[in-house]
Amino acid sequence: LEVAKKLVVDALRYIPDFPIPGIKFIDVLPIFQNPVAFNALLDVLVLLIHERFGSQVPDVIVGLEARGFLFGPSLALRLNRPFVPIRKKGKMPGECRTVEYKKEYGKDEFQVQTNAITPGQQCLIVDDIIATGGTAAAAGQLVELSDANVMGYLFMIEITNLKGKPLLGDKPFITLVEYDEEE
Ligand code: PRP
Ligand code: MG
Repeated sequence: LEVAKKLVVDALRYIPDFPIPGIKFIDVLPIFQNPVAFNALLDVLVLLIHERFGSQVPDVIVGLEARGFLFGPSLALRLNRPFVPIRKKGKMPGECRTVEYKKEYGKDEFQVQTNAITPGQQCLIVDDIIATGGTAAAAGQLVELSDANVMGYLFMIEITNLKGKPLLGDKPFITLVEYDEEE
């Protein structure tokens, strides 16, 4: 686990003042440019899911646009489970449910297709990073609007100083890396 985790952590890049001054951006893209790191990421995430939930595997992996799409489908495939995307408004055809949310910098609207999640399913919400938690909380609302359950949340990185975790209530919370911008 530690070796795989180090491979992932070493592939992260930190970019100051992007996309706006004062924000220190964590770039996860190098992980996906390196098949060894990408495989290690999936290995570690599957292990953490099993550690947390035991034999109970999520029914659905729900991934958040855009960077939750980079590994959500691969993770779903490893778990032999369906993947459902949550996208920014207006990208998906057919009937959708919509919620508005606040981000670390700005405001947006998220949607899920109305019949993508079956009522009662246990959903694991996955994204690259949790910062203020607004994005993930909106995804949780969409799962609940679908009459399904949020089994938990999984992030590659938690920006701990932005305190997004409390916004998600007491749901199981899995993160690979904790990062404090103020350290
Ligand atoms: C980023 C990141 C998370 C979100 C975290 O996405 O990928 O989804 O911000 O912020 P929060 O916890 O403060 O809500 P962003 O919306 O910037 O763009 P993306 O489409 O590139 O993922
Ligand atoms: Mg995002």
